[in-house]
Amino acid sequence: MAEKNVLFSGMQPSGKPTLGNYLGAFKNWGTLQEEYNCIYCIADLHAITVRQEPSMLRKYTKELFALYLAAGLDNTKNIIYIQSNVSAHSELAWILNCYTYMGELSRMTQFKDKSQKQGKNIPTGLFNYPVLQAADILLYQTAVVPVGEDQRQHLELSRDIAIRFNNIYGDIFKIPEIYIPKAGAKIMGLQNPTKKMSKSDTDNENNVIYLLDDLKVIANKIKRSVTDSDNQIIYSDEKPGIKNLLNIYCAITNKEIKQAEKDFSGFGYGAFKEAVAEVVIEEIRPIQENFKRILADKEFIEKAIKDGAQKAECIANKTLKKVKKKVGFI
Ligand code: TYM
Repeated sequence: MAEKNVLFSGMQPSGKPTLGNYLGAFKNWGTLQEEYNCIYCIADLHAITVRQEPSMLRKYTKELFALYLAAGLDNTKNIIYIQSNVSAHSELAWILNCYTYMGELSRMTQFKDKSQKQGKNIPTGLFNYPVLQAADILLYQTAVVPVGEDQRQHLELSRDIAIRFNNIYGDIFKIPEIYIPKAGAKIMGLQNPTKKMSKSDTDNENNVIYLLDDLKVIANKIKRSVTDSDNQIIYSDEKPGIKNLLNIYCAITNKEIKQAEKDFSGFGYGAFKEAVAEVVIEEIRPIQENFKRILADKEFIEKAIKDGAQKAECIANKTLKKVKKKVGFI
């Protein structure tokens, strides 16, 4: 690759991708693809930290590959690949485990949340998860990692691990910067707007907009979203439902929140929700059309998956080789 800096990000194929995933992450990846050498990973190794049905994991992995392309990521300009196809991730993760502290991993809020749902038998993979994420990023000498707000703590840990390793062995890893979008960094549930919209939240379908939902279903979910009763479109923590809809609206239209508040002053909630639904649907419609077309071309996808893995492997192995040498492996 040329002298451009590397941008790296990833998503787990652990369920149906949501509007939160799109607005917090891969909508922005697309806009950065001219400026950086971009590498986008489908994090299936991360996905198995909670139990997955193998046939569903395969389906979601392929679908996510097609969805990345459908949303405008270009696999001829960038590298798009499946994490488990590149064994360097698992190898570097093991090595970095030996440079990461139990205390650090115990402080991860996502581990605390997810482990609570696991009952007595918490997989150690769930605990080590952020180390694998650090390996993902550091293998590619990444300069910038665009993610939603919920990944900030993991990225800070990736930086700490890289700095620690470099302090011992010299300049092996580039220290990655975190990039979090202004609007869209944390899209909340439609029924419970005090908790983030999550693809693993399968209990209440109305809480989550899935990117592949029928467009009419999306409009209905927005119409039924929980708000409050004072009928004023103001961006405030005391009005989490309206705040969330304004965030969604602005993340899509690139409008400033203040401007949107002005534009909607005097609107009732019904009309406001309709306007939000309209921009969401117009954003998602072409993605769904592209998605169907791309997914139908099995040969193309299979080739693209293979190509992506080869390109990623080539870069990842260079860093892994340096690391192995530094730690004293023959
Ligand atoms: P994952 O699969 O949970 O989410 C993928 C991306 O979507 C963002 N996101 C959100 N943004 C806004 N609002 C929401 N409600 C919302 N929900 C999710 C996430 O912040 C993320 O950017 N561990 C990562 C995947 C990963 C990764 C990496 C990311 C693996 N290796 C290396 C960056 C770099 C994860 O579970 O994302």
